[in-house]
Amino acid sequence: MSRMSWPFIAGAFPNICRTEGLYLYDDSGRKILDAAGGAVVTNVGHGRVRVAEAMAAAAIETSYVVPPFQTPSRLALVDILDQDWLPPSLTRAHFASGGTEANEAAMKLALQYQQAIGEHQRIKMVGRSISYHGTTLATASISGHPGRKRGLESALPHYVSVPAPYPLRAPEGLNGASMGQYYVDQMRDVLMAEGPETIAGFIAEPITGSSGGAIVPPEDYWPKVRALCDELGIILILDEVMTGFGRTGLDFGYQHWPIAPDILVSGKGLAGGYAPLGGVFTNERVGSAIESAGYQVMFTTFGAHPSACAAAVEVLNIMREEALVERAATQGAYLHNQLASAFSEHPFVAEVRGRGLLAAIEVVADRSSLARFSIDRGISNQIVAEGLKRDVFYYFGGTGEVRDVVCLGPAFTATNAEIDQMVDILVESVTAAVSSG
Ligand SMILES: Cc1ncc(COP(=O)(O)O)c(C=O)c1O
Repeated sequence: MSRMSWPFIAGAFPNICRTEGLYLYDDSGRKILDAAGGAVVTNVGHGRVRVAEAMAAAAIETSYVVPPFQTPSRLALVDILDQDWLPPSLTRAHFASGGTEANEAAMKLALQYQQAIGEHQRIKMVGRSISYHGTTLATASISGHPGRKRGLESALPHYVSVPAPYPLRAPEGLNGASMGQYYVDQMRDVLMAEGPETIAGFIAEPITGSSGGAIVPPEDYWPKVRALCDELGIILILDEVMTGFGRTGLDFGYQHWPIAPDILVSGKGLAGGYAPLGGVFTNERVGSAIESAGYQVMFTTFGAHPSACAAAVEVLNIMREEALVERAATQGAYLHNQLASAFSEHPFVAEVRGRGLLAAIEVVADRSSLARFSIDRGISNQIVAEGLKRDVFYYFGGTGEVRDVVCLGPAFTATNAEIDQMVDILVESVTAAVSSG
């Protein structure tokens, strides 16, 4: 028996010894339906032998080589991204070991770009009030996620924050046409107060991930934010760690609007959970300015690991061969339809939201006033626990301030029957959690 506590804070977590399709099997043979795709990661599903074989082949071929050197799997990944996934405007790639590192690199690139073009006073990065970008000191600081800053608050550096769209709880009187403008005006006010000439970049998720629970902004929000960044000389970083590579039913979440980022960040689904990998892709304006200035873009030792790149190539090939992005759109529509019919009249669910196979419910104590359950109640954790008792795993959501959110983000291969089970068990789990208090 080990002395060592794993995870760090011990809890009652299952011991998973096999995964296949959408299922996790524990050491007693129990079968758990993974409605969350892990941490919204396993886009092509578990148990893809060809991905494992490609990783093994890459490990045999070039086990480890420093990230700036080229290897067959690195070149293949850059090639498939360039030919088949990224918009032509994004011409430069940097690879990290995950989403946090990739966002950290993206923020550094925005800062370096401004220095490179002589905008030396642009030294601030801006985030949003509801967001998650990672767990390092900088990415945690810029995240609008109080729950993940506990015990660190006084040590974290200050980052400028603008209000994130939260249509469910937007001020009364705003409608579809005025709501986007409202949030963009708020953003402008904050930037003006800070001095826009001091701002290097703005980082945001196109559709807010688990921190807000799959919040889709008002339709005109993104085009207006893009225009505001252009007007004020601010680099737009879109964090697509959760939404990228098909999750929302298009290749990238930002493609739901007529905009393009200066820097696009990915992670999670890029290698489908088979390997740790994050990607940072910049447009030529950013890339060439940094190159001309002679600045370094420092790599992490395991960034662009050959086996991780090989995994990503296979995952991306599978996505195209099986038309899984299209499937995320159709199965996502089915999931939203089933969630809507299960919860549209539910007394304790205020909203079903999301896009494609990124979905969430927001649970409330009172549907008409949107009053929340008390924070001590931990209702969304209770719902996740009730789901697990019933052999379905949902993803914890919320920031501590945005509370009581439960997320779903299954593999794109999910069948209608599996989606039905996710929804049925979610209804049971909400009822069980609410009535247990
Ligand atoms: C939107 C977003 N950005 C960044 C991250 C951090 O990525 P990682 O946990 O791979 O470091 C996450 C993880 O949940 C995320 O959802």
